Amino acid sequence: MAKKVLGVSFGRKMGNCDILVKQALMECEKAGCEVAFIRADELNISNCTGCIACTVGMMMGKGRGYCVRHDDFDILDECVMQSDAVILACPTYETSVTGRFKTICDRIGPSHDITFRKGAWDEGKAAGKPVEQLPDERCFKKRTGALISVGGAMTENWIALTAPMMYEFTFPMAIDVIDIVEYYGAMAHESVLGNPEMMERAARVGQNILASLNAETEEERMQWRGDEDEGACPVCHTRLLQVSHDARTVDCVVCGSHGTFEVVDGKLRVHYTEAEKNRSRLRWEGKLEHSTEIKTQAQPTGSIKNLKELKAPYAAFNPGVFEPDANACGNIKK
Ligand SMILES: Cc1cc2nc3c(=O)[nH]c(=O)nc-3n(C[C@H](O)[C@H](O)[C@H](O)COP(=O)(O)O)c2cc1C
Repeated sequence: MAKKVLGVSFGRKMGNCDILVKQALMECEKAGCEVAFIRADELNISNCTGCIACTVGMMMGKGRGYCVRHDDFDILDECVMQSDAVILACPTYETSVTGRFKTICDRIGPSHDITFRKGAWDEGKAAGKPVEQLPDERCFKKRTGALISVGGAMTENWIALTAPMMYEFTFPMAIDVIDIVEYYGAMAHESVLGNPEMMERAARVGQNILASLNAETEEERMQWRGDEDEGACPVCHTRLLQVSHDARTVDCVVCGSHGTFEVVDGKLRVHYTEAEKNRSRLRWEGKLEHSTEIKTQAQPTGSIKNLKELKAPYAAFNPGVFEPDANACGNIKK
């Protein structure tokens, strides 16, 4: 059966993200894959309200790990579930992902965290529940991913948070990212179509996805196929390291690995022990550690007996907004 590759663009219609994703998808289609393309801006997806019914439901053995609301997120979810690989491209807005990208990520996790879903699946199976009452079994499929971030600015640090933030889409579902492209300086071309080097790199994203999909072993499927990344996180290959309070160790902000660093021949090298690598949120153990702490540490409703009384002064305190300043030239419609 043909492998299925899904491309999702978070950019403008026929803007740089659309074209880069389509370029990668075309490579996959040429090689016999079935491909699909979604423009995120054409989906009507509402923000997560934080009700946590999706996860609480799974923990109580009732829910399947879905939002109580039905909207176009369901279309995206179904396409991801059918896919073997996902290629995402997101513009940089204010050094990071777009609001819609974040909205979709909030709707993905933690309801789509595979350790949550596996727990619910195993318990439901053991209780003899039919599959339609369990989390979608397709969420346990091994998938490959590639991330493309785009920014107009000529200085690379103006897109610094975008690719790292894009992992929020992939890590709950354990999609293995094998390639990342960070395209900055996009404003120097009217369209990326005027940048042959970047178009060639996007085609290589497609080829890298194909190489992963055609791999014979799981190790080969997950193999990093992006650019040389010396000095980067050895687990997720991003460069967003946070110095710990003791200034002796570092945490990878993206994947949560923790370790030491040294400078060898003038270059930063990061070292994680195998145990620390396994605590990364890209790996099963790291995810399980977090979902277990939610299951065991989060206090249930009713733990604070007089909470209503404690909240009362805050509920009654509603100062509202400032009156518009009639003497200033703001933008309130008169
Ligand atoms: C609200 C807004 C904020 C932006 N902020 C940044 C930024 O912080 N850094 C950057 O490099 N480009 C920034 N850009 C430029 C876009 O990333 C750039 O135009 C990109 O090509 C858009 O992707 P698209 O062509 O796929 O729509 C911003 C654009 C908009 C509309």
